[in-house]
Parts: sequence; C-alpha cells; structure tokens
Amino acid sequence: MKYNFLGKTGLKVSELCLGTMTFGGKGLFKAVGSLGQESVDALVKRSIDAGINFIDTANVYSEGWSEELTGQSIRNLGLHRDDLVLATKVRGKMSDKINDIGLSRKHIMQQVEQSLKRLQTDYIDLYQIHSYDPLTPLEETLGALDDLVRSGKVRYIGASNMAAWQLMKALDYSTYNQVAKFVSLQAYYTIAGRDLERELIPLLNDQKVGLMVWSPLAGGLLSGKYSRDEQNKESGRRVNFDFPPVNRDRAFDIIDLLKPMAVAKGATVAQLALAWLLHQPAVTTVIIGANKQEQLEDNLKAIDITFTTGELQQLATVSKLPSEYPGWMLERTGVDRK
Ligand SMILES: NC(=O)c1ccc[n+]([C@@H]2O[C@H](COP(=O)([O-])OP(=O)(O)OC[C@H]3O[C@@H](n4cnc5c(N)ncnc54)[C@H](OP(=O)(O)O)[C@@H]3O)[C@@H](O)[C@H]2O)c1
Repeated sequence: MKYNFLGKTGLKVSELCLGTMTFGGKGLFKAVGSLGQESVDALVKRSIDAGINFIDTANVYSEGWSEELTGQSIRNLGLHRDDLVLATKVRGKMSDKINDIGLSRKHIMQQVEQSLKRLQTDYIDLYQIHSYDPLTPLEETLGALDDLVRSGKVRYIGASNMAAWQLMKALDYSTYNQVAKFVSLQAYYTIAGRDLERELIPLLNDQKVGLMVWSPLAGGLLSGKYSRDEQNKESGRRVNFDFPPVNRDRAFDIIDLLKPMAVAKGATVAQLALAWLLHQPAVTTVIIGANKQEQLEDNLKAIDITFTTGELQQLATVSKLPSEYPGWMLERTGVDRK
C-alpha cells in the first residue's frame, strides 16, 4: 500500500480508502447495501490489515447508521483512533425538520456533534461538505468550518461534488479571509466517466487540492459482471439502481478491452478499472466499496496491477470523451505555449 499526501497537507493517506456506504441499510441507502456489525468488522479489519488507514463515511449514509457501525467497529477491533484518518460529510437532509439540511452554521454545528457521537470519537480528521449548498452563503459555511478546525473538533476540511467555479470561489475566499481551506475534493471519476478531466482536474493540479475518487467501479458496473445486452444479469446494485449515470456504449467498449487485459494479467476487470485510477497522477486515493468480503479481497489487489504505456494508450483511446468547447479551442491555442 502506498501513502500519499492529502493535497497540500502534511497528512498521509493510503492510496485506497475504505468506503462505508454499504454499511447499515436504512432509507435510500438500502439499495446500496445493508451490512451489519459483524460484516462491517470483518471488512474494516481486512482493510486495516491490508494497510488502509483512511475510512470515508457520511452523516446521511443509512441515516447515521453507517457512522455508528464504523465507530463501533473501531472499538470492537481495538484500533488506535490516532492511527486512522476518519472522514465524514455534512449537508444532506437528516430529518423533515426545516433546518436539518444544508450547510448553514446551525446545521453544521449540530451535525458535527452528532457525527462525533456516532463515530465515538472526539475529532474528525476530514470534515467534508457533501455538495454545494446554493441556499447558504459560502462565507457562513466556511466560517462555521473554520471554527470547527480552530476548536479541534475537525483537523482538515474537504469538499465533494462541486463545479470548478464553486470550488475555486471557495478556495479564494479562504485564502483572502485566512480561514480553513478545502484540502481535498471527493468526486466521481472512472475510466468510463472522465468528465472530471475537463475543468476540475486542471484546477486540482493548479491549486494542489487532493482528489478522493468515489464510485470507482461506477456502482459495480466496471467489475465486468454486467453484460451489454443485459442477458445473464447478475444480482447487484446496478440492476435496480442505475447510478452513477454512464454512457453505456462507451462503458461496454472499455469493459471489452479490459477483459482480455485482465485475463493476460491473471487479474479481474474490477482490479484493472481501479488500477487505471491509481495510475492517474491527480488521484490521491480511491474509495473502494464492497458488499461482500470477496469483493474487498478482489479490489485490494488493484494496488499490484501495472499497465504498460501501450495499454494505457489503448485505454485512453477507448475511454476518450468527445471534445467540448472551450477544451478544443484551448488545445489549439495552447500548442505553441507548452
Ligand atoms: N461523495 C459522494 O457523493 C459519494 C457518492 C458515492 C459514494 N461515495 C463514497 O465512495 C465509496 C465507494 O462508492 P461505491 O460503493 O459506489 O463504489 P463502487 O466501487 O463504484 O461500487 C461498489 C459496489 O460495486 C460492487 N462491487 C464492488 N467490488 C466488486 C467486485 N470486485 N466484483 C463485483 N462487484 C463489486 C458492490 O455492489 P453489488 O454487490 O451490489 O454489485 C459494491 O457495493 C462509498 O462507500 C462512499 O464512501 C461518495
């Protein structure tokens, strides 16, 4: 396992992070997974044994239950809290009460206390906003997050699911007002969905913000277990829950290329799809999700996969996005400014 600095910080996180969205099974998240304490303990233990030091959860996952299972697991396994980097998130709706949603100071302050309780800890290493909140002034959100860092309840703050202009605006606000600054972006990025390369990855490189990749198998699609014609449908989350959205033709062209490559390497399509992400320089960590111990075992082996330059070129070609303005014009005008 390799460890990378999280953005510009001095904090090192494992190149694989354990995702916890399959823990619990309440509300909307029932469709994703419903692992109980025993299975959670087994997944957490195996991850730690494999060298993972980074765990990602969110207050909304199974309505708080995922955080509870994670916190209990750390206790059950006798793990040292300080050896772990615990990340959680705030913004989602936690109840029907009018203020129990969003990135207002009130909701953030209330939810951080709840998350600390559920996780059975007195600090959160990385507190992330789950998405932009267009109804709350950015300065209110960043002011509240800065107070949490200063109080010691939170070590670093991160963002998730933001447009490039929103993230850049937030980074600049923090710089000019000397408040805590987002050190990472958690975003969807796969070989079948390279949209992030248009605006956000250049921004992350420029601003030295870390990248945590979510749904690295596009919800299981890139494990190779689904077929293009939907014959031999395996059971799995994507059968009834078509998320994240993908261009199916492109995704299956990629899978068709990954399959023989996987056979030649004695590996699986899932391992190759994850390894492709690990080969992308902007990626700090890939958040892996599993519903079964075998899936975790499979995914952990991704760190040992290497690609030749030729293979990476083939994968780049099959997964290339159609060009879009201003990208194609910047490419032209940039030719003599390299
Ligand atoms: N910030 C955000 O908005 C956001 C959004 C989504 C996720 N996340 C984070 O990212 C983590 C990972 O997301 P994800 O669970 O969607 O990741 P994913 O890797 O795209 O999908 C994981 C799912 O794919 C299937 N799978 C995994 N490994 C497999 C294998 N080797 N072979 C066959 N099937 C396999 C399992 O589902 P089935 O068994 O049901 O097929 C598993 O639950 C989450 O736990 C969460 O921490 C964040």
